[in-house]
Amino acid sequence: PLIRLEEYRPSDYLIDRVDLDIRLDPHAARIDATLALRPNPAGVAGAPLNLDGDDLRLVSAALDGAPLSPDAYTVSPAGLSLLTPPRQPFSLRLVTEIDPTANTKLMGLYRSNGVYCTQCEADGFRRITYFLDRPDVMAVYTTRIEADRTEAPVLLGNGNRIEAGPVGADRHFAVWHDPHPKPAYLFALVGGRLGKVETQFTTAEGRAVTCAVYVEPGKESRADYALDAVIRSMQWDETAFGRAYDLDVFNVVAVSDFNMGAMENKGLNIFNDKYVLASPETATDGDYAAIEAIIAHEYFHNWSGNRVTCRDWFQLCLKEGLTVFRDQEFSSDMRSRPVHRIAEVRSLRARQFPEDAGPLRHPVRPRAYAEINNFYTATVYDKGAEIVRMLRTLIGAPAFRAGMDRYFADNDGRAATVEDFLAAFTAVTGRDLTDFARWYERPGTPRLSVTGRYDPQAARYTLRLAQSLPGEGGQDGAPLVIPVALGLVGSAGPLEAATSAQVREGVFVLDRSEAEIVFGGVTEEPVPSVLRDFSAPVRLDLALTDAQRMRLLAQDSDPFNRWQAAQDVALRLILKPDAGRMEAFAEALGRFLDGEALADPAFAALVLALPSEGEAADALPADVDPDAIHQARVALRADLGRSLRPRLERIDAALAPVPGAPYSPDAASAGRRALRNAALDLIAAGDPAAGAAWAAERLAGATNMTDRLAALATLALIPGETREAALADFAARYADEPLVLDKWFAIQAQIPEAGTLERITRLQDHPAFTLTNPNRVRALIGSFAFGNPTQFARPDGAGFACVARTVAALDPTNPQVAARLLTAFGSWRRLEKSRSAKAAEMLNGIKAIRGLSRDTADILARTLEGG
Ligand code: ARG
Ligand code: ZN
Repeated sequence: PLIRLEEYRPSDYLIDRVDLDIRLDPHAARIDATLALRPNPAGVAGAPLNLDGDDLRLVSAALDGAPLSPDAYTVSPAGLSLLTPPRQPFSLRLVTEIDPTANTKLMGLYRSNGVYCTQCEADGFRRITYFLDRPDVMAVYTTRIEADRTEAPVLLGNGNRIEAGPVGADRHFAVWHDPHPKPAYLFALVGGRLGKVETQFTTAEGRAVTCAVYVEPGKESRADYALDAVIRSMQWDETAFGRAYDLDVFNVVAVSDFNMGAMENKGLNIFNDKYVLASPETATDGDYAAIEAIIAHEYFHNWSGNRVTCRDWFQLCLKEGLTVFRDQEFSSDMRSRPVHRIAEVRSLRARQFPEDAGPLRHPVRPRAYAEINNFYTATVYDKGAEIVRMLRTLIGAPAFRAGMDRYFADNDGRAATVEDFLAAFTAVTGRDLTDFARWYERPGTPRLSVTGRYDPQAARYTLRLAQSLPGEGGQDGAPLVIPVALGLVGSAGPLEAATSAQVREGVFVLDRSEAEIVFGGVTEEPVPSVLRDFSAPVRLDLALTDAQRMRLLAQDSDPFNRWQAAQDVALRLILKPDAGRMEAFAEALGRFLDGEALADPAFAALVLALPSEGEAADALPADVDPDAIHQARVALRADLGRSLRPRLERIDAALAPVPGAPYSPDAASAGRRALRNAALDLIAAGDPAAGAAWAAERLAGATNMTDRLAALATLALIPGETREAALADFAARYADEPLVLDKWFAIQAQIPEAGTLERITRLQDHPAFTLTNPNRVRALIGSFAFGNPTQFARPDGAGFACVARTVAALDPTNPQVAARLLTAFGSWRRLEKSRSAKAAEMLNGIKAIRGLSRDTADILARTLEGG
């Protein structure tokens, strides 16, 4: 059954206060909930009260203090209905019992590594007690948590702790009160043996906040970086958005079994420990960057998500797209803005573009869903963030900031919609955003076609822009509003004298299906630099020669388009190899490296990173043969490695770390490591024998996980004894470090060789591997399905079968993770015929399984039916 946006209606009842008394127990946790309810004036008077429930055992029910008579309500494992509720405010007391240890779905209250924790978004609270589990029902929560003192010395809840003490000899309790009304999806509690690091932060409003990060005892030192990121996030949200924290405590807890990355529960963010724990010995530069970004993301939700929440789940992008935009801005301020922008776009193209081009495509604001947990997608998050970014580009940074202030002011304490968001910007700018709002409604990635024409006599340059987005029935719908940042580049750099009245502050707004821009004062034939900074999430068709692109790489003022120019040349060389063009490309890269590699190593590392196999596949119209793409890319890398060898060796030498210098995760140091490791990787691509020896040596001398893992990844592509020995050594060294073993699983799962499937079968029997831990599943099977195109799509279907088996095995215990894994089949129709036939076979095999979860059945149905 589909839930539809247009069928939204307000709840018939509201809940003002929730008083919870929760007694933690491994198998029989008891939840005593008292709900202060009242009829919603906006609802249907006298309607039955239908509370959501999922997998609950009802112990008792009372209305206004008196036990409910059996004919006053109906109860099922899926809900509790009060048939004729009072017409005035009333209280309902419900006692339920649940088994946290048996909760393998990791939704609701469960135990991870012996620690009690919760995950309630999107609809997990109903697995704790019967409730109006929808985001527009907001209540003030007071939570008493009681537990065994040895089992759970730490008891955490939302808000501030107002009371705590012993209960008899063995047990104790804590009471937490959250004064801010919130939807049930933001409820959380934690109970367990945990170590912590903590510090104080004083807000701009003068509030003293105790910030703490809780982790497995013994790993406290690995939480320092996350705690520091909390403080920087609080500081930044005050300066960048004027948003201050609003409670006396802010807690972050790391747990090892978690379906997603992290969760923004009010005052009590719960994290996948992968995004908290970091030490130089166990985490890479990439891990540090991800921790910083996700800590910030969850913290920023305190305003964009919690203070202003969503009316219904169709509005998910309202909090997620906006919060991703906010965390991207934070990371850009903490690191290199251009480098971060390139990283954002790489991830958008790797994850969102294929989604938007396949059967799982959906609007940023979906119109209907069968299972909301399947809509926490790259489209909602990352394309959602791009929409916010475009809005800022359109109205300018000052108006954007004013609009954000207005949005927070007008909607504080409310459950809002995308329309409310846009209305705030209309209010401060007077601008009608109805046309712009089409970005939220239209699935698919628009195409932007651009051609240029130079008239030397008139010193004029004309750009013609046209947009297209085939919708239902193949017809183009109404045009989108596309901000196109652009400029012209001459032989010696940007043509500052070339101007057009249609271009304001470097941006042309394309709001029709086509338009022409005329530049005057153009004294030489320029190269157009279009879609600077990736100003809109579109596919750009702009036919330039390699030489023109190399001019952009050398001369453009926009770092994004400099990088993009090199990517475009490389992509064309992968799709259509050509020795002469390859040589010219290598020369241009060589000049680039000589000129400035050492001035901005992080940027240079990105220029050297060729488009992925997935990106190449995405660029083809159909009939994708992953082996052909793989071979072409390997050949190009080998050529480049050989041509650039002397330069790469110079870079390697120049960036060698000073012996004994301590590791620092800062962006500049990370950039130097990235370039040096990219150089090694390219050298190895050109000369595998020398590369293997070199990588093995680097591995032996590595003093941090970034360099160690990079060397191992390079070595992993070179078959032989050296590789196997290095892998064995790595496993032995980190036998007690699950998060590091995940890296080891992932590297092996991505080896593009026929033997990988057997290796995976062996690894599934490794003592550290288990289907019950989502990180392990994602590391081994997820890396294979999403990161090994040739072996996942083996022509014999064995790769598909391996993933299908895992989906089937996991579905009964953890449907969310199973469904997510199944999305790896999303591009199956674009594969060449024999492979797509095998994929269809596997998908139909899963379809035949009885009792599939709604999560998996939904992904499956959409994957099979969508064109
Ligand atoms: N709101 C969380 C975040 O983006 C993600 C929670 C996803 N949970 C889920 N069941 N789909 O930070
Ligand atoms: Zn989020």
